[in-house]
Amino acid sequence: MEKYVIHGGNRLFGEVEISGAKNAAVAIIPAALLVNGVCRIENIPQISDADTLLSILSSLNAKVRMINPSTLEIDCTNATCEGAPYSKMRRIRASYYFIGSMLGRFGHVKTTMPGGCNFGVRPIDQHVKGMNALGAEIDVNGGFIYGKALDGHLHGAKIYLDKISVGATMNIIIAAATAEGRTIIENAAREPHIVDLANFLNSMGADIRGAGTDTVKVYGTPVLHGGSYSIIPDQIEAGTYMVAAAAAGGEVLIRNIIPRHLECISAKLREMGVTVEEYEDSVLVKSEGRLRRTNIKTQPYPGFPTDMQPQITAALSLAAGTSVVTEGVWDNRYKYVNELRKMGAQIQVDGKTAIVEGVEKLSGAPVASCDLRAGAAMVIAGLCAQGETIVEDIHYIERGYENFLGKLTRLGADIRLITEPDEPETSGDARVG
Ligand code: EPU
Repeated sequence: MEKYVIHGGNRLFGEVEISGAKNAAVAIIPAALLVNGVCRIENIPQISDADTLLSILSSLNAKVRMINPSTLEIDCTNATCEGAPYSKMRRIRASYYFIGSMLGRFGHVKTTMPGGCNFGVRPIDQHVKGMNALGAEIDVNGGFIYGKALDGHLHGAKIYLDKISVGATMNIIIAAATAEGRTIIENAAREPHIVDLANFLNSMGADIRGAGTDTVKVYGTPVLHGGSYSIIPDQIEAGTYMVAAAAAGGEVLIRNIIPRHLECISAKLREMGVTVEEYEDSVLVKSEGRLRRTNIKTQPYPGFPTDMQPQITAALSLAAGTSVVTEGVWDNRYKYVNELRKMGAQIQVDGKTAIVEGVEKLSGAPVASCDLRAGAAMVIAGLCAQGETIVEDIHYIERGYENFLGKLTRLGADIRLITEPDEPETSGDARVG
C-alpha cells in the first residue's frame, strides 16, 4: 500500500507546470473511437484514469502509439465493439463516454455501469434520455448498460437536459457528432472541457457549435478523419496548487494555464487575503499571514467548481473566522470532513452545508483519501499541519493528478512516498492465511 508522509510547515516557492485537463482527456480518448484515421493528441495528462481509458481502447483493437509521454497517436480505423474489458470500465466514471462513442460508431454498445468517486447517488438518466432522443434503446440491467440504435444509426434530435450535467452534455455531443442531421442540446453544461471536446471533434471534421454556452448544436458528419489536437490545461489541478500555496503560504507561479478558467478561484482567494496576479498563461499566488474567512457555494461553470470544494475547505479550516461552504452539485461530498477533524479542524456538516470554524493550527495525523479531490485536500491540510501527516489510499489522487508528489516537492514541500505491505485480511474466513 502506498502512502504519502508529509511534514507540515514548509512554505511553497517556485514554479509549477500544469498538465492537460483530466476531465477533457477522459472524454476525448473514448471519443477518438469515432475517428477513421490517426488522431494525434498532445498534452494528455499522465494519470491513471487516462491510462485505463487508453487500455480499454487498445482492447477494442485501436492502435495507440506513444510519441512522448504526453503525446499519443490513436488510430481507431480498425477498432471493434468486441473485447471491452468490463472490469476496467467498471472502475472509472468516464467509461460512460463509450455509450456515446460506441453508439455513434457501431450503432450498438454494451458497457458497465460507471464507477468513480462516491458522492452519493450518481444517476445517468440524462445520458439515457439523450441517447433515447437520438434513436437508441437503452437497457440498464445487472450492472451493464446495453444500447442499440433502432434503425442501425443515430438521428439528430432536440434535447432539453432536466439537470445541468457535464457528462450527459459531453456524451450527447459525442453520440450526435456522426448522427444523421442536427442535434440541439438545451440547458447544456458550459465547463471548459466541454468546449475542448467540441474543439477536438471539430478538428477531426465534426461540426459542433455553441459549446461553452447553454445551447449546443451538433450538425452530424458521417465520417470523421484524423487530425492533431492539444488538450487544454487542467483548471482543477491549477486551482489545487493555487489553494495549496494560499494555505501553506509562499509564492508560487502556476504555469501553462488559462487564467479565465480560474477566475472564480482567484476571486475567492483574493477575498481570503491572498494576492493573485494574472498573466497571459500563468498566475502568481502570494500568501502570507493567516487567511481570512469567506463563504463558498459550488455551482456548474462558471460558478465555483465542486471539484475544488474539499481543497478550499481544507484551507478555510485554518482561516480566521467562520466560513460557510455550500455544495450545489453533489448530494454527499463531505465524507472527507471526518478526516480533517482528525487533524483538529472544526467543521459541522448539515446536509449540503459545512460550517467551518477556522482554527489556529492543525496537527498531523493518519488520514485517508476518501476520493480524488478529498485526497488532494488531505495533502493540503498536511502541508499546513504541525507534525507528521500520513495520507492513505493515494491511488485516488493518482487518478487525476500527474506527478503530484514530484510537483509539490519541487515547490519545497516535505512529502515522500512510502510503500508498505498490505495488511493481511482478517475476515475470519478459514481459507485466508
Ligand atoms: N445528474 C443527474 N442525472 C444524470 C447526470 C447527472 O441527475 O444523468 C446530476 C448528478 O447527480 C449531479 C449533477 O447532475 O448532482 C452534476 O453531475 P454531472 O453529470 O455534471 O457530473 P459528471 O459528469 O458525472 C463530471 C466530472 C466530475 C465533476 C462533475 C461536476 C468527469 C469524469 N467527472 O462528473 O469530476 O465533479 O462533472 O463538475 O468528468 C473530479 O474530477 O473529481 C470529478 C468528480
